[in-house]
Amino acid sequence: MRQSMDVAAQALREAQAVVVFTGAGMSAESGVPTFRDALTGLWERFDATELATPEAFARDPDLVWGWYEWRRAMVMRARPNPGHVAVATIAAQAPGCVLVTQNVDDLHERAGSRPPIRLHGSLFAPRCSGCATAAVMGELADQPAEGGPVPPPRCENCGARIRPGVVWFGEALPEASLVDAVAAARTCDLLITVGTSGVVYPAAEIPRLAARSGATVVQINPQRTPLDEVATVNLPGTAASVLPALVDAAWPVPPRTSV
Ligand code: OAD
Repeated sequence: MRQSMDVAAQALREAQAVVVFTGAGMSAESGVPTFRDALTGLWERFDATELATPEAFARDPDLVWGWYEWRRAMVMRARPNPGHVAVATIAAQAPGCVLVTQNVDDLHERAGSRPPIRLHGSLFAPRCSGCATAAVMGELADQPAEGGPVPPPRCENCGARIRPGVVWFGEALPEASLVDAVAAARTCDLLITVGTSGVVYPAAEIPRLAARSGATVVQINPQRTPLDEVATVNLPGTAASVLPALVDAAWPVPPRTSV
């Protein structure tokens, strides 16, 4: 691990174009469950991948809107963890750093990073399901602590239901974000992938593309993933522990000299 950390730190210190690519594991230590974690409370009998579909919203809009309201409340209570802070440090220190996230929370921004390229949208950017007009994020609906169905508001423009501004399974990714993320992956010399299972496409193509383009790929994840095969360096461990250690190893604070 020490040796891998040194290799990763040197790559970070020397890189001219860095991409940090994050997934749900990035926010796990802030208390936001990943998609592979079992759901709890009312949501126990659901699978996240079944609630996050256009079909689920069409079938039961109150249930799906309620699930996103419950998640929005959870994210608003959550705080960025030391991993988010370390990413903001990397973004500030490393030249040409581009942050690409699959997460729909706002914890990167709240840790001080500039708004990331969002491949899967945001919990905080609802829009009309009919005319796509951006909707104002309303007050959080009253919900029991374990969550529950909440009727989505209606569009002021056309009267259709407001939907969460996230990408659901089976939907296209926002074109401009994908184009920017692909361009950054193609041209970076270091990509750090953090807390993603690397199985949901096309996002999972981003680290693979960087590797194919000759970049060093550093993976931070406590588990093995299919990205092991493209990672130049694996740093097994969690975002909140490994990322600050990587920052410290890349840019050690010089010892204070006394006169
Ligand atoms: P997943 O839930 O698929 O994977 C989370 C990853 O984070 C796993 O590989 C875990 O081992 C790792 N992990 C868990 N705790 C961690 C920690 N403390 N530090 C670092 N890593 C940790 O999440 P994503 O890969 O982000 O898409 O999932 C990709 C997409 O699939 C999501 O954006 C979402 C999902 O369904 C949509 O909603 C469209």
